[in-house]
Amino acid sequence: MAIPNFNVCHKLELLKEEGKSGDPKHQEGEGEEEEVQSYEFQEMLESLPKERGWRTRYLYLFQGFWCQSKEIQAIMSFQKHFKSLQNDVVLATIPKSGTTWLKALTFTVLNRHRFDPVFSTTDHPLLTSNPHDLVPFFEYKLYANGDVPDLSGLASPRTFATHVPFGSLKDSIEEPGVKVVYLCRNPFDTFISSWHYINNIKSEAVSPVSLEEGFDLYCRGVIGFGPFWEHMLGYWKESLRTPEKVLFLRYEDLKQDMESNLKKLASFLDVPFTEEEEQKGVVHSISDLCSFENLKKLEVNKSSKSIKNFENMHLFRKGEVSDWVNYLSPPQAERLSALVDDKLGGYGLTFRYN
Ligand code: A3P
Repeated sequence: MAIPNFNVCHKLELLKEEGKSGDPKHQEGEGEEEEVQSYEFQEMLESLPKERGWRTRYLYLFQGFWCQSKEIQAIMSFQKHFKSLQNDVVLATIPKSGTTWLKALTFTVLNRHRFDPVFSTTDHPLLTSNPHDLVPFFEYKLYANGDVPDLSGLASPRTFATHVPFGSLKDSIEEPGVKVVYLCRNPFDTFISSWHYINNIKSEAVSPVSLEEGFDLYCRGVIGFGPFWEHMLGYWKESLRTPEKVLFLRYEDLKQDMESNLKKLASFLDVPFTEEEEQKGVVHSISDLCSFENLKKLEVNKSSKSIKNFENMHLFRKGEVSDWVNYLSPPQAERLSALVDDKLGGYGLTFRYN
């Protein structure tokens, strides 16, 4: 098996994030998101429908989904420059569905011969690096801030992550053998997790989003990379159409039965666990190493910053199924439930809420 080159991944992480040169214009009022834009980009942005943002002033409707101006720049650059290679692995999620967890699991599964999860109890990369440093996002890391990285030195299988919907990813992953793993979480918990996270990390220049306001935006589809139903459906349909290319996992299933889902993941990635590995406890060790309790207590996840300037600690809140019952009123739960039935019910995409 080819093993990803961990050192190169780390070098990528060290790429300095710099503003664009050229003829810049600052967009006002984005607070921490304040950024440098060309006039052409600004013009294009102004032509897009926009709504109140959650942690920046606006979200724009770009290619049918809502996102921030800085993300649009990075996504356009990714779509223009990224060339997939056979065996690339892309982890896809809508934010707050367990992306960090999926990155930890996939990295550990793919690199288990190099970093033994059973015996490397002190020197496994996950103990000193946040999962976002080990599996970079296209839009927040690799193609952010005008960077166009040279990814040719990465060993196969190169492993990346993205929040973009399938429709905006598909042209970039046409190479045969590219695999996509989608992690889906029930929309109720995803909303509550998003609401907490965004209010924790948003800039002071943007007023907090109340639960009521956030809920209304969410139900209207206005959330980063949403509408959530279209995001989920895009990957769901593709996983049914091409199961060898897209694996659809559920957060709640991982919580309930990590080991069989890990085996599914490893087989899908063409690195199934051998009987010997299972007897040695490899599957169990990966599950333990990547558990919420283990990752949350690590120093790197308590005190560092891995995505932009956001504290890693906000990536690990409760890690539970059904926390939404502590926040949503019965009428809100009814509204969301009806929406989920309406948008997803006809497609066989179902959720567990406990
Ligand atoms: P909560 O806010 O409900 O606790 P993402 O990684 O996509 O940003 O998703 C974050 C959500 O996943 C948060 O949910 C976080 O606590 C949870 N999470 C992070 N690491 C996890 C892990 N190892 N196991 C289970 N859940 C995890």
